[in-house]
Amino acid sequence: MTKCNIKNRTIFNDDNLDVLRGINSECIDLIYLDPPFNKNKKFTAPIGSSAEGAEFSDIFREEDVKEEWLITIEQDHPELYHYLNGVRGVGNPYNFAYLSYMGIRLLECHRLLKQAGSVYLHCDPTMSSHLKLMMDTIFSEKNFRTQIAWKRATSSQKGSQHKNRKWGNNTDVILFYAKSNQTPLSPYKKLTEEEAIRKFDKIDKSGNKYYDDSAHIWRTPGMGSRPNLCYEWRGFTSPGPAGWRMEKEKLEEEYQKGNIVILPNHKLQRRKYEKDSPGYTFGNFWDDIDPAQGEEYEGYPTQKPLALMYRIIKGSTESGDIVLDPFCGCATTCVASENLDRKWIGIDISIKAYDLVRDRLTKDVADPGHILQFRNRIHLKTDPPKRTDLGKDYREKKFVYVIFHPKYPGEYKVGVAQDAKKRFVAYQTSDPKREYEIKYKLETPYFREIEKHIHKVFPNKHEWVQADLKEIKREINNYREG
Ligand SMILES: C[S@@+](CC[C@H](N)C(=O)[O-])C[C@H]1O[C@@H](n2cnc3c(N)ncnc32)[C@H](O)[C@@H]1O
Repeated sequence: MTKCNIKNRTIFNDDNLDVLRGINSECIDLIYLDPPFNKNKKFTAPIGSSAEGAEFSDIFREEDVKEEWLITIEQDHPELYHYLNGVRGVGNPYNFAYLSYMGIRLLECHRLLKQAGSVYLHCDPTMSSHLKLMMDTIFSEKNFRTQIAWKRATSSQKGSQHKNRKWGNNTDVILFYAKSNQTPLSPYKKLTEEEAIRKFDKIDKSGNKYYDDSAHIWRTPGMGSRPNLCYEWRGFTSPGPAGWRMEKEKLEEEYQKGNIVILPNHKLQRRKYEKDSPGYTFGNFWDDIDPAQGEEYEGYPTQKPLALMYRIIKGSTESGDIVLDPFCGCATTCVASENLDRKWIGIDISIKAYDLVRDRLTKDVADPGHILQFRNRIHLKTDPPKRTDLGKDYREKKFVYVIFHPKYPGEYKVGVAQDAKKRFVAYQTSDPKREYEIKYKLETPYFREIEKHIHKVFPNKHEWVQADLKEIKREINNYREG
């Protein structure tokens, strides 16, 4: 884990790709992204609203895809490159452009997250299934935690004179991934006073409230037999082969804590105390958060409600953690983080974000005394930051590899990859006979220069150089900078 090179309360007014590339690796706890959804239109704030003048384009075309993105993706993440190539030419022609734009940014997000970090990608059904596959590729399927449906509008009516042809679209999709299995989550909702009174209806000798959860001392027969959970404890045995609900040591521990009680009639009671209860666990259908409205509504196009951000931030971070929003818009995430005592970094290509975060922090922050302390301490940056975790003379190293296939005798593919093994596997999977052979690889900071040099020195056909392997190796090894 490295130290974050960005000050708390910084807003970058720049393209987020350049900014993300300048942030140190593994220093962020939570990333929430609410990017354009590929709607093929422009969004503009209403005239007269606080956000008047704010607009952003949600239009993606193939000519906007930078070659450099594709080269980087091909080198650093061949699997993602395959995915993008698969999308190219299938369905809506704009999808490839949109996904390339997202892919290169999501790769950076993955790099920035701490091992115990979390990422929430807000989208809608336009691209949610494409983005899910992309996130599986970048963050790994095993780190996919939940797909949340947020009911963003009560009404699903369009008010159109045409007949309805589909069910109303009134939910957004939020894809939640962990960086690893170390990522914690606290998905709890506090009970209301009324709910708590109803639920914790008993009181012990010390005045602590609890409910009787004795139905969950033993596993039910339908749960199947578990010989390791069938044991004798303080004169009690489980009634059937399904066994106890927990292992013997845990049961004893619960007994010592007073959560398992032996009643005078020699019966067992399991108690769930109010003091230990984190509340209900939220499911993944969030229909209790209204869109931003009233005082909170700035008029910013596609502004998200603070309550949505509170839920995500509370669930996935602790006080003092760093939250990053690369598409921060009117800075809802920044304001919510400030209110919850988290550190924050916001990025938006529109300058409106900076103005709005200042205004919003003045009126939306819960404690007015607190405002004066930080009001003048929001940092506006218009240039991307420089990483400080690479050392002064750092030059990234990659592999120059030489690949051979018996179908092309006397020819070799000389390329560059961050992970030569992964690249080789990608080649092999593209060949039913698995006949590719990796003949040579060298990790070097001059990977790009060497690749260019080899392609200049030897004749080329479809990116394969025609030469003797020994000569290629010699040219690679003898290459000196410049
Ligand atoms: C859906 S809005 C985000 C709304 C935000 N969650 C809120 O509550 O206000 C998407 C934002 O992404 C910004 N954006 C689009 N492309 C960007 C880029 N390449 N770099 C930084 N910001 C970008 C737009 O200016 C817009 O403000």
